[in-house]
Amino acid sequence: DKAGHKHFMAKEIAEQPGVIGDALRHYLNEDGATLNLPQAGLDFKAYDRLTMVACGTAYYACLTAKYWFEQLAGMPVEVDIASEFRYREPPVSDRTAALFVSQSGETADTLAALRYCEGKATKILSVVNVPESSIARESDVALPIFAGTEIGVASTKAFTCQLTVLLLLALKAASDRGEIEATKLKEVLSRLRAIPAVLNTALETNDDFRKAASRLANSDNALFLGRGLMYPLALEGALKLKEISYIHAEAYASGELKHGPIALIDKEMPVVVMAPQDALFGKTVSNMQEVMAREGKVILITDPPGAEAAGEDTWMTLVLPQVDPVLTPIVYAIPAQLLAYHTAVAKGTDVDQPRNLAKSVTVE
Ligand code: M6R
Repeated sequence: DKAGHKHFMAKEIAEQPGVIGDALRHYLNEDGATLNLPQAGLDFKAYDRLTMVACGTAYYACLTAKYWFEQLAGMPVEVDIASEFRYREPPVSDRTAALFVSQSGETADTLAALRYCEGKATKILSVVNVPESSIARESDVALPIFAGTEIGVASTKAFTCQLTVLLLLALKAASDRGEIEATKLKEVLSRLRAIPAVLNTALETNDDFRKAASRLANSDNALFLGRGLMYPLALEGALKLKEISYIHAEAYASGELKHGPIALIDKEMPVVVMAPQDALFGKTVSNMQEVMAREGKVILITDPPGAEAAGEDTWMTLVLPQVDPVLTPIVYAIPAQLLAYHTAVAKGTDVDQPRNLAKSVTVE
């Protein structure tokens, strides 16, 4: 049942404020100010490092979480693609916690990577949407994300629920390791509790993205740029776009632009720049100007102060609500999804069942 939406993907995008609210209700105490993560033996003081492994969109959720674990909890983190990790046979010490992220909980490579860590890592954790799945069953601690059934092949609400649970875990790590004060933790949690309302506001940009997509749909290629926490979001935006609109899209860390991809810029090349006004904003704006100086078509996705600072020379500027920089990945998932969705609709592709793809990749 698409609940009045044209596609499951549109329904699942719209469900995000609600399901993130469900996850927050589950993982926060009733006071809303303290974490409720009593899972047996889960104490990040006991580990020297965290190894995170996943595929596709879940891998991008892990890349985002790396910034959170490092910045909030001072914890060394490695992130790997499951199909690489399992065959590289990396050393895993007994002071390592291994964390596997999977919507389906059945992805063959992620499950194989988990089995590789059995008996090596101190703790096997997973963040899954399907609590009865193989990955959940084979973990020491499985944390459900409460996204509800996701039908669209392009992952949307599972991604933002993964981000939410991973941020809560990073905050737990920060608290276990004495890296965050109780008042600061309370402040971040209260801002996180406001995220469903912020997402509702972000979803009101739907028509702006429909218009932007009707122009983007005429391109054969697109680049996505982001810095810091926006780099994994740029990767996710490019993946969404190629999966469902079949436009060739690549993402780069903004600082990598001049190390190669700038050669691709001409007046035919749309460049999606994801850049809320944060500490790194000025650097990203200068990358954007390098694109514009070569006639590249910049689609800037930012917040009101960012739009003001960037001026009017972009091809398009799309404005989202301003939030605490630490929470921007959850909010900027919305434009990544809406841009891909409306571009696919404009092109007339099969949004929910894109060619060659399966919802759950249970074979290598
Ligand atoms: O079920 P999983 O989260 O393990 O799936 C991982 C990927 O196959 C999945 O995220 C895929 O990349 C999606 N089609 C992305 O939209």
